[in-house]
Amino acid sequence: MTPPTTTPTTDDVLATLRMLQAMDLPAHGGRTLAYVYDSGLADADAVGLEALAMFASSNGLDPTAFPSLLRMENDLVALTGGLLDAPDGYAGSVTSGGTESILLAVLAARHGSGATDPSMVIPASAHAAFHKAAEFLGVRAVLVDVDPVTLRADPTAMAAAIDDTTVLVVASAPSYAHGVVDPVTEIAALAAERGIRCHVDACIGGWVLPHLDGTAPWTFAVDGVTSISVDLHKYAYTPKGVSVLLHRTPALRRGHFFASANWPGYTMLNSTMQSTRSGGPLAAAWAVTQRIGVEGYARLAHEAREATLAVADAVDGIDGLRVLTPPDSTLVALVADDSCDVFTVADEMLERGWFVQPQMSFGDVPPTLHLTLSAATAPSVPELAVALRESVDAARGAGPVAIDPGLAGLVGAIDPATLDDQGFAGLLAAAGLAGSDGALALPRRMAPVNALLDACPPALREALLLGVLDRLSRPTQT
Ligand SMILES: Cc1ncc(COP(=O)(O)O)c(C=O)c1O
Repeated sequence: MTPPTTTPTTDDVLATLRMLQAMDLPAHGGRTLAYVYDSGLADADAVGLEALAMFASSNGLDPTAFPSLLRMENDLVALTGGLLDAPDGYAGSVTSGGTESILLAVLAARHGSGATDPSMVIPASAHAAFHKAAEFLGVRAVLVDVDPVTLRADPTAMAAAIDDTTVLVVASAPSYAHGVVDPVTEIAALAAERGIRCHVDACIGGWVLPHLDGTAPWTFAVDGVTSISVDLHKYAYTPKGVSVLLHRTPALRRGHFFASANWPGYTMLNSTMQSTRSGGPLAAAWAVTQRIGVEGYARLAHEAREATLAVADAVDGIDGLRVLTPPDSTLVALVADDSCDVFTVADEMLERGWFVQPQMSFGDVPPTLHLTLSAATAPSVPELAVALRESVDAARGAGPVAIDPGLAGLVGAIDPATLDDQGFAGLLAAAGLAGSDGALALPRRMAPVNALLDACPPALREALLLGVLDRLSRPTQT
């Protein structure tokens, strides 16, 4: 972008930002059912934003220079520990998000083991952050199929997959894609018997499940659980950029601490991946959690849970659509029968002002629609049900999504390992996704693109979507 010759006024800058933001899905209002979490509490949002601004320039790099941040971090860790039955002597760190918490849990397990060829045993339903950890940290991910009916991790199959190289086993509470809580007691016992760590990924459920009855045990109350991740920027309804990683003991945490005195500047001392750490998200999380309070969270958790059950009930009454598996928390996956295409349903929902997230088929699980229910969605569930019914009818009327056989042949012949920029440009043109300047032009209705991607094996889908990301992430042309 060419720098402007005169600087814009503050009002102009803000007007431009508003214009840019109008391109986005709404983060508030309860109609965006993935990526964002809305408590519907204007007061809590306001105090969070004020705290975010107050501490945006403070730096958690040096806790002695910014002791307020250290205090807020320790407060958040204590609050989380209280919720997750942490035993005496536990320790924890605040990170930038679920992925960072998971990377650090894997890193600590790798360091702690001293293994030369470390691996981790994860259910196939575990979050993709574990695959990222595998790739970034050189810890092989051994994937174990989940139970085909319950979609929960299968402890017997996981036990069989553990070997001398295993440094970590993983369970989700709940899994993102299917919304079910794994049998943590059995999985943690397997780990404990073998002296291996067990991480519970409660990034999305950790702030909700403690308030609900009837969930199978998954916290530190379960013997053998060594670490748990919980994101505050999800169901603690705080601004983005905050997760908490707890360890049963400080010794288990040490592997993700880092120090370097081996350069001429300050001794770098970090508890997480980041070095400079904005105080903004941390202070915002501190403020929002104080303002909402444990009772407030209990109420919000019940509202979100009731909204989830009400959606599941409504779906039961919609011909052509069903709940994939009963939800254990506040996430639900919907599957369509042969009479309608889920990707078209997603497009139709968007036309009606609702974002639901398409999930591709995986193993024997067909493509689904993912819905993360926030407390703010609760009052609008009846409207959501009407939109779903109308969308299914419209999708049925539209018929199956046709994949151009020529294009499918072209895509099928691609070797993901060798797909280069030129090959990708040709593919975009053939798919009608190239604008006049050759740049990527995504259509409003994504069903044909999603159907094509769904037909691709995962490695090819990754290569194609990395190509898309690369095309999207280019300097702005003026
Ligand atoms: C279960 C689970 N783990 C990990 C993550 C990753 O969190 P983040 O997107 O904050 O990195 C998510 C995100 O939805 C999640 O649901």
